[in-house]
Amino acid sequence: MTGTTSLPIDETSRARLASDGLRMVLVDPTDAAAHAAWFRAETRGFHGAEPSAELVEQRRASARSEDRMVGVLDDTTAMPEVPVATTVCWPAELTVPGGRAVGTWAVSGVTVSPTHRRRGIARALVEAELRTAVAHGLPTATLTVSESTIYSRFGFSPAVLARDVTVQTARARWSGPEPAGRVHAVTAEQLDEVGPQIVERVRLTRPGEVSYGGPLWTRQLGLSVDDENAKNLRFVRHDAPDGTPDGFAIYQLIERGHDFSEHELKLNTLVAVTADAYAALWRFVLEMDLVSTVTAHLRPVDEPLRWLLEDFRAVGVTETDHLWVRVLDVPAALSARTYLSPGRLVLTVSDPLGHAAGTWALDVSPDGTATVTASTDPAEATMTVNALGALYLGGVPARTLAAAGSLHGDVDRVDAIFRSPVAPYLSIWF
Ligand SMILES: CC(C)(COP(=O)(O)OP(=O)(O)OC[C@H]1O[C@@H](n2cnc3c(N)ncnc32)[C@H](O)[C@@H]1OP(=O)(O)O)[C@@H](O)C(=O)NCCC(=O)NCCS
Repeated sequence: MTGTTSLPIDETSRARLASDGLRMVLVDPTDAAAHAAWFRAETRGFHGAEPSAELVEQRRASARSEDRMVGVLDDTTAMPEVPVATTVCWPAELTVPGGRAVGTWAVSGVTVSPTHRRRGIARALVEAELRTAVAHGLPTATLTVSESTIYSRFGFSPAVLARDVTVQTARARWSGPEPAGRVHAVTAEQLDEVGPQIVERVRLTRPGEVSYGGPLWTRQLGLSVDDENAKNLRFVRHDAPDGTPDGFAIYQLIERGHDFSEHELKLNTLVAVTADAYAALWRFVLEMDLVSTVTAHLRPVDEPLRWLLEDFRAVGVTETDHLWVRVLDVPAALSARTYLSPGRLVLTVSDPLGHAAGTWALDVSPDGTATVTASTDPAEATMTVNALGALYLGGVPARTLAAAGSLHGDVDRVDAIFRSPVAPYLSIWF
């Protein structure tokens, strides 16, 4: 095994699960049978359909050496080769304020079989992954969640919010700029050629984005084997006037009721490097014939769309949590980003799991960069590790956290330093 799989299994959790008769193992993706059993268990864990042999093989072939797959086996079950619990994690880059990135342990695929739930297996696995991230020298861990009730207890907090947007097209008369450039209809394969570069150009411009590729990108294009929705997907690319691709959108059309002019256009993805690409792609989907409603999932909280339409109320918005962040190494995490105002801030962080606990001095230079050291000075602010995770990308006001009782002290100063001028955003889930 190589990459992140070279580290041994976490001994604390292995022993804890062994005392319950369970075997916690690393899954080697080159072992086809073990990989297939793990993948089936993970799919079941999220109530997915039984994957075909082709899909299992596609996933195995696209497994990366850095994917660390963990399974928990119970030799007493009727299918002892199928794990009763799964996780998969990999190192990624999380964009932070200042156009830089910090290492993050992307945590995914956390499932426990309904036959083994609520006996501490997920706790053992998640705590193991946090220790493994630390062992890899990764200052943060991140995840997107199925339920927002699970991960606070492990020190994670929502740091990126997102919006679901519904637009009534009859009211959405365009009043924004006339964008330059051109929208082309393309195939999934054509988008596959340029899409990753477009995503990469956007990634460092937004705190909250997490680097991705491989199966996550394949899934967006509907190129996963077994993707029954694939044939419904439509792809458009925006090219700048000089012909450089600088944005794309992926959408599908859903017939609603008996009126053929009442289709819903479901915008799955819209990525734009430039303001022109943003305006052109939105205008393209809003002016589609036979569509009465455009819905879009996981859009940025500062989406300018409403300001580009004559009727502000054509757009309905629902906000939700999206990326959850867990700070593990305070000096490494906090010194990776830049800050809005210079000065010194001493903060005390409480962390039941210990990783981030301590009193830390943040010294911000006039250029916004910071050095972070352990300190014995009196703290101007105290906060839980969850509050620190929420603050970290600059999208959650300290005042909000103070109102929730997870942050105390000089709230205005914390805000003046931590807020990001660009709202954090994450364009995918994982
Ligand atoms: C969520 C899931 C992984 C929990 O597994 P589990 O082994 O039953 O969890 P544990 O027994 O280790 O519970 C750990 C803690 O989380 C709590 N918890 C577990 N599931 C929870 C849930 N769905 N909502 C709220 N709290 C939950 C437990 O009460 C326990 O609390 P405590 O240790 O502070 O007393 C499992 O129910 C599952 O696979 N769900 C479906 C797939 C899913 O949604 N996975 C999460 C992906 S983001």
